[in-house]
Amino acid sequence: PARLVVLASGTGSLLRSLLDATRTDGYPATVVAVGVDRECPAEGHAADEGIPSFRVALRDFEDRTAWDRALTDAVAAHEPDLVVSAGFMKILGSAFLERFAGRIINTHPALLPSFPGAHAVADALAYGVKVTGSTVHLVDGGVDTGPILAQEAVQVLDDDDEDTLHERIKVVERRLLAEMVAAVATRGVVSDGRKAVIPGDRT
Ligand code: GAR
Repeated sequence: PARLVVLASGTGSLLRSLLDATRTDGYPATVVAVGVDRECPAEGHAADEGIPSFRVALRDFEDRTAWDRALTDAVAAHEPDLVVSAGFMKILGSAFLERFAGRIINTHPALLPSFPGAHAVADALAYGVKVTGSTVHLVDGGVDTGPILAQEAVQVLDDDDEDTLHERIKVVERRLLAEMVAAVATRGVVSDGRKAVIPGDRT
């Protein structure tokens, strides 16, 4: 199976569901390590499964470049085939992007290119859109700009608040992320830097 290093910062529910997916019969990838940038429940999810985790916190480094190099080395030590950003709330730097180019998968809680950044759900609600959703994409040097692998829509309800909407989006994200990680692990991905195609896909 393909080796995954998963990066997380939040509650780690996407990591938790990806771990469950990797335990299903025939799933083509396995989580070999979990990396975090702060104390967070993702570390506990890793420990529960006997998977090593590492913490690389920005405040422990002189600047972002040094932090990014340390994160790159910590991830590289686990020799991943793919890096999965599952609610990792820091922008990856150039050393990291060069090292793992074309092999970093991110999930974002909006239909990109709408509402990039760290407040996608709140921004979508504030704008008043009636449909938002989930985007799984490859990471490039921009903020949530990389080639899109898959998207799925989620309706915004009149009485939604940020929590209720985000939770419905996460239900979709958990499934879409596991599907796309499996697809890329099995079939790879071809991208010209803008469009991404998973060979064998009909879309
Ligand atoms: C997910 O909705 C993910 O898309 C989002 O953080 C949440 C993590 O959920 N990521 C971003 O907003 C990145 N810009 P979790 O902590 O429950 O796994």
